[in-house]
Amino acid sequence: MKTPVIEIRDLHKTYGKSEVLRGVDLSINSGEVMAILGRSGGGKSTLLRCINLLETPTAGDIRVGEHLAFSGGKPATGKNLVRLRRSVGMLFQGLNVFPHLSVVENVALPMVRSLGTDESVAVKTALDLLDKVKLTEKALAMPSQLSGGQLQRVALARALALNPLALLFDEPTSALDPESTLEVLQVMKDLSADGMTMVIVTHEIGFAFDVAKTIVMIDEGIVVDSGSPAQLASNSQHDLTKRFLREHLQFDSSSPAGQPRPTRSR
Ligand SMILES: Nc1ncnc2c1ncn2[C@@H]1O[C@H](COP(=O)(O)OP(=O)(O)O)[C@@H](O)[C@H]1O
Ligand SMILES: [Mg+2]
Repeated sequence: MKTPVIEIRDLHKTYGKSEVLRGVDLSINSGEVMAILGRSGGGKSTLLRCINLLETPTAGDIRVGEHLAFSGGKPATGKNLVRLRRSVGMLFQGLNVFPHLSVVENVALPMVRSLGTDESVAVKTALDLLDKVKLTEKALAMPSQLSGGQLQRVALARALALNPLALLFDEPTSALDPESTLEVLQVMKDLSADGMTMVIVTHEIGFAFDVAKTIVMIDEGIVVDSGSPAQLASNSQHDLTKRFLREHLQFDSSSPAGQPRPTRSR
């Protein structure tokens, strides 16, 4: 049996008196795309932030690759923390790039700094990654000259530069216009086809149902439902899933066999 790339067991996170994560179990396999959906305030961002220890969990276990990120009430520290942060890249909706560095420098620098890669090799790899995110022609541009979607793709190339085991996305397109959103989602879809392991919190329900292998519904700090897109769309027994899909999926008579045509949620 395959060992999951990320394994989360009975994860809890408390802020003051409020328990935001109340026992989450998740396993993400190599090459799997997992979409995490749910109402605002349900704990999705907190969950992602616990995986790479931007937040310290209150209890539970998290393993990333062969190493424990959190166990026995203790987070990884020192070299182990550095290795963890390198193995899970994270993309947010905000600014993820250095404004004073050119696009190619933004992608090459982490390789030089974190991996000790030779500068000329780092630049060559950076150019390959910029090709992957369809930004070759912007290699020498400064971030201020780019659209939001282009900036997110630079950030994606930067994250890929460290050769991560997995990428975590927290609503990466929620601040973007529709055209930029499509560009970013297309690159994410390409990455999934390349076998990248990804955990994606998104409001792009159509994208999630198209690209994810597993959909996980999180509400009030627990996993309330999970399964393949087909399982959730056709026969979920859970009220929240049914309500969520009803609100966010439009049924399009022009699509084959009355397939739901998912739309962007609000
Ligand atoms: N740093 C924090 N301090 C206190 N409460 C927080 C903090 N971060 C998040 N919360 C609370 O935790 C709950 C879950 O938040 P979050 O993980 O951001 O949900 P989601 O991403 O699903 O919208 C919310 O009630 C939020 O107000
Ligand atoms: Mg959030």
